[in-house]
Amino acid sequence: MEIKNVSVIGGGTMGNGIAHVFAMKGFHVNLVETSEQLFTRSFTTISQNLDRQVKKASMTENDKNTILARINKVILVENIPPNSDLIIEAIFENKEAKQSIFNKLDKIIKPDSIFASNTSSISITELAASYRPDRFIGMHFMNPVPVMKLIEIIRGYSTSDATFITIKELSQKLDKIPVEVFDYPGFISNRILLPMINEAIFVLMEGVASKEDIDTVMKLGMNHPMGPLTLADFIGLDVCLAIMDVLYNGYNDSKYRPCPLLKKMVAANKLGRKTGEGFYKY
Ligand code: CAA
Repeated sequence: MEIKNVSVIGGGTMGNGIAHVFAMKGFHVNLVETSEQLFTRSFTTISQNLDRQVKKASMTENDKNTILARINKVILVENIPPNSDLIIEAIFENKEAKQSIFNKLDKIIKPDSIFASNTSSISITELAASYRPDRFIGMHFMNPVPVMKLIEIIRGYSTSDATFITIKELSQKLDKIPVEVFDYPGFISNRILLPMINEAIFVLMEGVASKEDIDTVMKLGMNHPMGPLTLADFIGLDVCLAIMDVLYNGYNDSKYRPCPLLKKMVAANKLGRKTGEGFYKY
């Protein structure tokens, strides 16, 4: 199946990055938000991120305007064009909220379209159970989406080979590197990344070292672009906690218990960059 029309549900950090990448590669994208105001915020972010390339002269102002013109505004899921070949859901990490969106979409979108979720840890098999399970798949992009090369492609229990191949080939058309993953909690990325971040928070909580020194060890000692505490602020501490909870509950293994300091900071609404304060102030 050839994917021509793509709809992205949610224009937050991940959704606007996904729309950006598709539009850059020549796809017409419906970007679905819940209000005019949120759509404008999302569209402005895409425009500002494209400006980075205009400033470096790797893109002209004209190219930028052509890319932006491929992004079609849709307010509310109910108004999404039924002929979308691929829907990528990129709303916040809540299973019931995602299921409610797919429930609406299933009634609107043509039956041979593929449904994808950009979830960072919720089971694709569970999300897919009620809606076209053979044509349901995980497309896990990394933040910042225009920069990061990886897409984890998560196969739910019933995802068909045809769906997997279509999404793998599509990911390559986006100039990304797809990796095939079977559906287990945390997939590959977050099963490995989040326990490392969680452990860094334990190291801080136990007073082993300062936050700056913890980050320096991983940046200079392991060549990570960001230290784990800076990265936690970048991801969002609420998202980090939600993923640790998915790992802890999914494997019933105490090695995934979320650090009490992470829980305390989320309770205090110190969520990282998005609230202006996490381990660092912004
Ligand atoms: N959109 C477009 N371009 C962007 C961008 C964005 N949002 N953010 C940065 N860039 C571009 C910059 O323009 C710059 O481009 P050039 O090199 O061509 O000039 C390049 O990216 C590097 O940016 P900066 O120079 O501003 O800053 P930097 O060198 O410190 O890099 C970073 C910033 C790319 C974010 C880097 O710090 C990094 O790779 N950090 C780690 C990111 C990471 O681990 N992401 C995964 C998070 S986990 C996740 O997403 C999944 C999950 O489920 C939790």
